[in-house]
Amino acid sequence: MAVVAGASDLKKPAQEPLALLRSLVAEDLKGVNAAIVDKMQSPVALIPQLAGHIVAAGGKRLRPVLTLAAARLCGYEGERHISLAACVEFIHTATLLHDDVVDESDLRRGLQTANAVWGNKASVLVGDFLFSRAFQLMVADGSLKVLKILSDASAEIAEGEVGQLLTANNTATGETEYMEVIRAKTAVLFAAAAQVGAVVAERPEAEEEALRAYGMNLGIAFQLVDDVLDFSAEEAALGKTVGDDFREGKITLPIVLAYQRGNDEEKAFWRRCLEELEQGEDDLAHALSLMARHGTLEESLQRARGFADAARRSLEIFPDRPQKEALLLLADFAVQRAY
Ligand code: IPE
Ligand code: IPE
Ligand code: MG
Ligand code: MG
Repeated sequence: MAVVAGASDLKKPAQEPLALLRSLVAEDLKGVNAAIVDKMQSPVALIPQLAGHIVAAGGKRLRPVLTLAAARLCGYEGERHISLAACVEFIHTATLLHDDVVDESDLRRGLQTANAVWGNKASVLVGDFLFSRAFQLMVADGSLKVLKILSDASAEIAEGEVGQLLTANNTATGETEYMEVIRAKTAVLFAAAAQVGAVVAERPEAEEEALRAYGMNLGIAFQLVDDVLDFSAEEAALGKTVGDDFREGKITLPIVLAYQRGNDEEKAFWRRCLEELEQGEDDLAHALSLMARHGTLEESLQRARGFADAARRSLEIFPDRPQKEALLLLADFAVQRAY
């Protein structure tokens, strides 16, 4: 189980909903982890070395778990969901490798990022390899419908990341632009991961759409919380460097709201820190105090709760099954999580 329990997992508090969800799909998840290890192999030694570093560091495996639970919720009894769940995790892992280069991050899953260890070039290229592997897995599955859902998602993630590049360091960024970025860069893959589960089970359109809506709402809630945690988390639990978004001038909802509500002096502070990237030692602490003054971290969490509720409601059409219960709990976890 070394693949599941990463180095950083040991320091983390028990997270009940996630543990329950994982236990419900435990057998399938073992298959997914085996497929991941199998498909990251290559005769080019640096590939399994670098990919193995980020894979063995753990990660919550939320997206593959979504695919597995969705398929079983839909009564699926075959095996296709296992390699498709691995495919979804490959897409996610590839985006993380690229994202850490773009964000110049040093810490991921409690370990040094791949770019910190092997440099940007190797990270980008191995990210490309993992993306390509994901497409090989889709082709092996053979469903054009699945291929469309996951390839559309891959293109949208890239659009989201590029879109974010354009809003970075721009304090004029509004809520609408922010929401579009997080929908594309994060929520679309959650949506695709859940939808694919219904597709392999060959369920009616309404169930497919319900699971897609569940994933989309969950993904938005998840990223809203991620952007709050970037300011408020315990670094050891998060496994990432706290304050990264502020240091690179990324415009997330807590900042959008604080800027809009700020007086002239506060606005000048945000522009200096986020546009000019002129930051001193106390600026992150000052940013936190301004966000507290305007209640913007709490308000961002409140929005996340709204999306988590919407996710839960999307599942109303399904009969009561353990997997449904697990997905309902996952919506709680997305908001309550500390990592
Ligand atoms: C990190 O996703 C990237 C975001 C969308 C915020 P996760 O928090 O699911 O990352 P791992 O896989 O558990 O490390
Ligand atoms: C991650 O966004 C989204 C993708 C990887 C597509 P972030 O940059 O906010 O995620 P972290 O904080 O690095 O995990
Ligand atoms: Mg990042
Ligand atoms: Mg983040």
